[in-house]
Amino acid sequence: MNPTDSLESALADLDSLASAGRLALDGAGDLALLEAARIEFLGQKQGRLKSAQERLKALEPTARKAYGQRFNLVKGELEALLEASRERLAAKAQVVDGIDVALPGIRPVLGHRHPLTQTTEELTEIFGRFGFAVARGPEVEDLWHNFDALNIPQSHPARDPIDNFYLSSARGGAGLHERPWAMLRSQTSTVQIRVMESQPPPVRIIAIGRVYRPDTVDATHSFMFHQIEGLMVQKGVTMADLKSVLSLFARAYLGEDVKIRFRPSFFPFTEPSVEVDMLWHGKARWVEMGGAGMVDPNVLRAVGYDPEEVSGFAFGLGIERLCMRRHGIDDIRLLYQNDVGFLRQF
Ligand code: DAH
Repeated sequence: MNPTDSLESALADLDSLASAGRLALDGAGDLALLEAARIEFLGQKQGRLKSAQERLKALEPTARKAYGQRFNLVKGELEALLEASRERLAAKAQVVDGIDVALPGIRPVLGHRHPLTQTTEELTEIFGRFGFAVARGPEVEDLWHNFDALNIPQSHPARDPIDNFYLSSARGGAGLHERPWAMLRSQTSTVQIRVMESQPPPVRIIAIGRVYRPDTVDATHSFMFHQIEGLMVQKGVTMADLKSVLSLFARAYLGEDVKIRFRPSFFPFTEPSVEVDMLWHGKARWVEMGGAGMVDPNVLRAVGYDPEEVSGFAFGLGIERLCMRRHGIDDIRLLYQNDVGFLRQF
């Protein structure tokens, strides 16, 4: 070191080091250049500031204070510049091929289950708690399961082609007697028959699915809708069991304050038969929820059960009706239009 180093030239060198450092640190175009500038100016081993610091020793003791102060200022300034540039370049580095990869992404819109699906799942869950297992059957059904086994005779008006979707492609018999033998099922009661044909009692099942009827579409009708069918057959089942199960169910799904009533009715496959109504929200109006009754002995016989041994109840409720009552929907068509604005509410 040169012991005769002068304060003036040392300060002048420090100043030019400072401006060179500012230029390099502030002007670095990317992180690699910034790192090179850091090593050059602020490097611990051979950085230019380090050498400038060494120079202190070569100054007269009286000059050291002034030089030391200026040195600290320059060092502080360059360190701050390094930090600022780092942040600036880090932000900039997130732009890749013109895309700012640091921008929050566009969240994929998550869908959710249709209200009818939600209703179906909830009903399955409630009846599951009552010990009912889930059964299924085909939507294209033969006439035995849709009518004959359900005690609906050949001449019954329920078979009228005007009220059913027969499949013209499924015809059997000769000549003039060719008749369709398959149809889109008009009720889920078909599944009662299929279950009883395939297992001995006791039976405790529900079946949920689509049914088809050539109804004109309006606010309360559709040519396709959903039903939940229930069937319980074993020794000693009574009408009281039916009423308890349906009342418990209505309270579980529609709320404790729901009011339901049973009206005497007729179905070929039950005796006695009832229609079940629920009181519609707000409006003092009874709306039909479905039909029910004690399984007719003829039905039990058709599937090979002994009506002297077992008895049972059955019910069939409209899923759409339940869903609409629950959510205050007053037009069934809303459930099929797939209007996202409507569906988002559930
Ligand atoms: N299948 C009937 C219908 O679609 C509803 C029904 C009534 C089902 C009485 C039943 C029942 O199981 O016992 O209108």
